[in-house]
Amino acid sequence: MTEAASCRPPDSVLKTCGLSMVFGGLVALDRVDLTVERHSITALIGPNGAGKTTLFNCLTGIYPPTRGSITFESGDGRKISLKGLAPDRVTLLGLARTFQNIRLFSNLTVLENVLIGCHGRMRAGLLGALFRDKKTRAEEKAFIDFSYDLLVRYGLKASVNELAKNLAYGAQRRLEIVRALATGPKLLLLDEPAAGLNINETNELRELIETIRTSENLSILLIEHDMNLVMNVSHVIYVMDYGKLIAVGPPNEIRRNPAVIKAYLGEE
Ligand SMILES: Nc1ncnc2c1ncn2[C@@H]1O[C@H](COP(=O)(O)OP(=O)(O)OP(=O)(O)O)[C@@H](O)[C@H]1O
Ligand SMILES: [Mg+2]
Repeated sequence: MTEAASCRPPDSVLKTCGLSMVFGGLVALDRVDLTVERHSITALIGPNGAGKTTLFNCLTGIYPPTRGSITFESGDGRKISLKGLAPDRVTLLGLARTFQNIRLFSNLTVLENVLIGCHGRMRAGLLGALFRDKKTRAEEKAFIDFSYDLLVRYGLKASVNELAKNLAYGAQRRLEIVRALATGPKLLLLDEPAAGLNINETNELRELIETIRTSENLSILLIEHDMNLVMNVSHVIYVMDYGKLIAVGPPNEIRRNPAVIKAYLGEE
């Protein structure tokens, strides 16, 4: 880090402090302190069962954490505690995610899948939806245009009217990311986006992640087992093992960290 950069006051988008999640007797997260700096790509790695997805589930309101705090800074000076908020509320505040196992609406079109991502931001109430007044129709058109635009920008233009289930696997993974973008996130959580992709698709994914960060002006928290991708794309890497953070640092340090090699990289 340059001296100028180290003098800058830290500007984080997300902070967890002492975050713990206990399932019965199993401590899946053990006092995790993690910070995502604004505009960074921050990776979270660790062996199977380390607690990575559980962390995402706590951040996004799927599980209420047993202990600790989650603070989201949306960028307008507000510090918002996410603890105890429902998933749709968390999404509206600006946290979007993809899932380890693809979760698309397989019998809807690609465009419809992205429109669902916009749903939380639509203002039309029940009456508007029933009578489809002028305002409602104008809003729908604006969201269709917005969704179409996203699909064009991120390489799915040719498939907008295809059913999601008919897309190739790599395109389905891409669609999940575009749908998450449709929610208008400040922070995007990606859970193993490279799982099942071949080398070419993984390279395209890397470009996509980097482009999204700059074009959409957001921060990314990335869970990934593909070390090549992680080492190339991340600014900071957090390493978990058995629910605990065992290391944090830039890729060149993490790569050489003996505890990390022992816990994780050594397994490869
Ligand atoms: N709902 C749940 N109930 C009970 N145990 C759970 C639950 N969810 C996760 N666990 C357990 O918590 C631990 C962490 O699981 P988690 O899915 O977070 O790991 P992970 O780091 O994402 O692993 P992977 O790399 O395989 O995806 C595991 O032992 C898992 O079995
Ligand atoms: Mg997982």
